[in-house]
Amino acid sequence: KQAEKGGYDHFMIKEIMEQDEAIRSTLLGRVDRGRVRLDELEALQEELKNAERIYITACGTAYHAGMVGAYLLRHVAGLDVEIEVASEFRYAKHHWRENSVGLVISQSGETADTLQALRMMKADGIPVIAVVNVVGSSVYREADASLLTQAGPEIAVASTKAYSTQLVVLYLFALYMAKLKGLLTQEEEQNILEDLWSIPEKVKQVLSNAESVRRIAQDTYKANDIFFIGRQLDYMLALEGSLKLKEISYIHSEAFPAGELKHGPLALVTADTPTLAILMQEDVLEKTLSNVSEVKARQGDVFVLGFERDRKRLEDIGRWSFFVPDTLPLLAPLVGIPVLQLFAYYNAVLRGTDVDKPRNLAKSVTVE
Ligand code: G6P
Repeated sequence: KQAEKGGYDHFMIKEIMEQDEAIRSTLLGRVDRGRVRLDELEALQEELKNAERIYITACGTAYHAGMVGAYLLRHVAGLDVEIEVASEFRYAKHHWRENSVGLVISQSGETADTLQALRMMKADGIPVIAVVNVVGSSVYREADASLLTQAGPEIAVASTKAYSTQLVVLYLFALYMAKLKGLLTQEEEQNILEDLWSIPEKVKQVLSNAESVRRIAQDTYKANDIFFIGRQLDYMLALEGSLKLKEISYIHSEAFPAGELKHGPLALVTADTPTLAILMQEDVLEKTLSNVSEVKARQGDVFVLGFERDRKRLEDIGRWSFFVPDTLPLLAPLVGIPVLQLFAYYNAVLRGTDVDKPRNLAKSVTVE
């Protein structure tokens, strides 16, 4: 068993540490001389060229990846996107638009609600693309086209490398769609792809700093509640960081869009509730900083996650901080997520929970 864990204490930390390689494998063969290449989508060319609306659905961590995907498809590919968790999506009333395409995301390819949502779209004549990790799974077989994440087997119940590779596929898909729509110059495409190719090395750098995250966790693991805040992509990342933390450490945690603090959550902030503030989206950074001040004014301790380029500006703001290697703001979730996964992991380890098999949770939810 220890050998299977590659010398690590848990599968989860092994899988966190494998992410630079998993991301590299997922990029491999999909970027050709500065251009995106997704041969798997060839058969759907016409549908994709005409697509006006994308329906995204998934569960859990895959849903959080989907939220980033929705942002990218809107911002990069100019598409109209609807997104909902599969357990709601499948029971909702949909007024399907013409020229719609479905996108489902699933590590296992066996999550019952995701599969049912896929079947519902297909039955209504909507072509469905799957982002999936397991070849031959139900989702893989039933989708009209599948984009595989090359994460390799994921054993820990809490998903880590599946999420980061789902993100990679979604970046590629958004670029692909933007090109089909004629919204991306070759130069823009090249810029984003170059930065995307630098991600494995940057993720590796973050992972080599795991010890500093462990030291922060030493200050936080006794907390009863930990909040996460951010705006736009930072908020979507916050959702995933908060889910990781609660599922394995059992610390109550919630992620809030930073601007919503005033509308309720601020009532919960005290000296005993640390807040992790994600400050990576330049265009909304000042706004989130003002929310950080509101937290500090209530004596709440703040953990700042930012880019290295903003170190000077941000380092005195929180009680703790972590700075990741610079990327385009668009790619922030890829360099930010390892920090949040490590934070969840070390809080859980310090609390002595069963990290790989958290109570009441299953790796794959095949019941409805
Ligand atoms: C379960 C797992 C999560 C996962 C979710 C969706 O809740 O514990 O880690 O994100 O199912 O699973 P899927 O295999 O569809 O990505």
